[in-house]
Amino acid sequence: MDTSKIKEKFRSLYGSDGVMYTSPGRINIIGEHTDYNGGFVLPGAIDKAMYCEIKPNGTGKVRAFALDLNESCEFGLEEADKPEKQWACYIFGMCREIAKKGKSVQGFDTVFAGDVPLGAGMSSSAALESCFGYALNDRFSLGFTRMEIALMGQATEHNYVGIKCGIMDQFASCHGKEGYLMKLDCRSLEFEYVPFNPKGYRVVLLNTCVEHNLAAGGEYNKRRASCERVVAEIAKTHPEVKLLRDASMDMLKAVKDKVNPVDYLRAEFVIGEVQRLLDACAAMEKGDYETVGRKMYETHEGLSRQYTVSCPELDYLNAMAKGCGVTGSRVMGGGFGGCTINIVKEELYDAFLQETLAAYKNEYGIDARVYDVVIKDGARKID
Ligand code: GLA
Repeated sequence: MDTSKIKEKFRSLYGSDGVMYTSPGRINIIGEHTDYNGGFVLPGAIDKAMYCEIKPNGTGKVRAFALDLNESCEFGLEEADKPEKQWACYIFGMCREIAKKGKSVQGFDTVFAGDVPLGAGMSSSAALESCFGYALNDRFSLGFTRMEIALMGQATEHNYVGIKCGIMDQFASCHGKEGYLMKLDCRSLEFEYVPFNPKGYRVVLLNTCVEHNLAAGGEYNKRRASCERVVAEIAKTHPEVKLLRDASMDMLKAVKDKVNPVDYLRAEFVIGEVQRLLDACAAMEKGDYETVGRKMYETHEGLSRQYTVSCPELDYLNAMAKGCGVTGSRVMGGGFGGCTINIVKEELYDAFLQETLAAYKNEYGIDARVYDVVIKDGARKID
């Protein structure tokens, strides 16, 4: 992204220059809704990111300007109430979470902007939290690790946005590495970098351009509550089970009559998804993307029918992909709109996009957006 507009605005608002930081959005190959269940995820940071320029201002106040929205907000670091504007809550939340850890942030001026599409399932909000977390950590020499910054981003979602999300998005934004995916164990927070070079294939996102808002209706939080209720039931006979990751299909079957059918289906999806990720990783190690792709279709099916976080537009794009012979396709991220992620053989790429975009437009009157996936580095300073 061209960051010169951020610099110009910063100078015109505050009369001097600050330091620029960036943190990216993410994709996830497989392992959806597994993070808050202690399972695995397989994300990678992408070439779409949030950017902020910041400079300490010697006061107890934060003055922020959201360039893409042309909106400003000011809040005191000692204020108890969160700002009204949602975008400002992300910055406010990060400052508060840092303070809770006993470190102090002083007042600062900032201008930020980005090119992570909003509501597309690419984690624009995690990118914003991680961008400010990383920037404040560096500017004020706070000494947090990347994982600690990611955890404070997650806490910001929980405490100031109201989404009880897992750690995947903030983790990926903070730890991304060019050319690599990351296999994260969300129970232990151990992770490894996995080279990602699917020779002969392209990875492409198709945005339904149907916006999701994970907070609206609390649908995301409801999924999490279902999982927790099932864990509580299983733990009555298996106290070692603290998360769905710890449970087997047999344990789940044994409580079938004790949990409600909706919760049961959701838990069945999660336990299956933890295993699917492991199978997909094993296949990927051998360069077997056909198996990875099959697992992705299975994930889509589960997210649509069992976990019920898809929507007609996403199901349509998924079915089109299947019809066009695409290797793997599924809804990506939290769901309820946003993108499908597709692994497609190079020779099918053009025909797939041409056919799908035309059919989608015909069906819904919407131009779906296309993003070729490029795996890039995580949070960093960029001056
Ligand atoms: C959202 C959340 C993540 C994760 C995904 C689903 O992106 O922020 O923590 O739960 O949904 O895998």
